Amino acid sequence: MKRILFLVLSLFSLGARMELNAQNQAGTKKILVAYFSQTGNTRELARQIQRQTGGDLFEIECAVPYPRNYDAFVEQAQQEQRQRARPALKTRVPDMEKYDIIFLGHPIWWSSIPMPVASFLAEYDLSGKTIIPFCSHGGGGPGRSRSVIAELAPRAALAETLALRASGGASLPEAISAWLRKNGVREQ
Ligand SMILES: Cc1cc2nc3c(=O)[nH]c(=O)nc-3n(C[C@H](O)[C@H](O)[C@H](O)COP(=O)(O)O)c2cc1C
Repeated sequence: MKRILFLVLSLFSLGARMELNAQNQAGTKKILVAYFSQTGNTRELARQIQRQTGGDLFEIECAVPYPRNYDAFVEQAQQEQRQRARPALKTRVPDMEKYDIIFLGHPIWWSSIPMPVASFLAEYDLSGKTIIPFCSHGGGGPGRSRSVIAELAPRAALAETLALRASGGASLPEAISAWLRKNGVREQ
């Protein structure tokens, strides 16, 4: 049973990828690169993705920034995580309707996504769009971030995640280029 389910999901994912590929290659897909970054690593990945795809860059920012004091920041972020809070964001993407592909970047916090990213996903109707997740971690990998994103955006298609340690090192451009090709996204 599990094997059949896996096969059906794989075929579905392959079909979605092929369609994405065909439309993107034709240059008809509009791309948004949205990211949240507390210490700058995810921002590096987002900028590189923006450079390679020509998409529009959008930073997810909290209306009230996290405390500068590290302990106070961790305490607040952890409390948000426990309470599944949806912290208010500073700005909205003005015209989300026009985007087909949303690259969504974040650091890994406690094996998951930071709650401002959950706020971002709750703010828009992402039905029919493709989310391509990317994350920066400290060595623990993507954790359960992917399934959390899938739960919060159930009507969007979810492409393959790119998970890199810190800001990806010297091979960042190649890693991103290979991942874009895998997901069938046209490079500039
Ligand atoms: C509150 C907090 C929780 C974290 N939890 C994890 C974790 O569970 N696994 C992991 O690999 N890294 C974890 N990290 C490390 C970050 O994911 C990593 O430093 C990342 O590169 C930060 O990205 P940024 O500079 O875009 O904020 C955590 C960092 C913070 C501040």
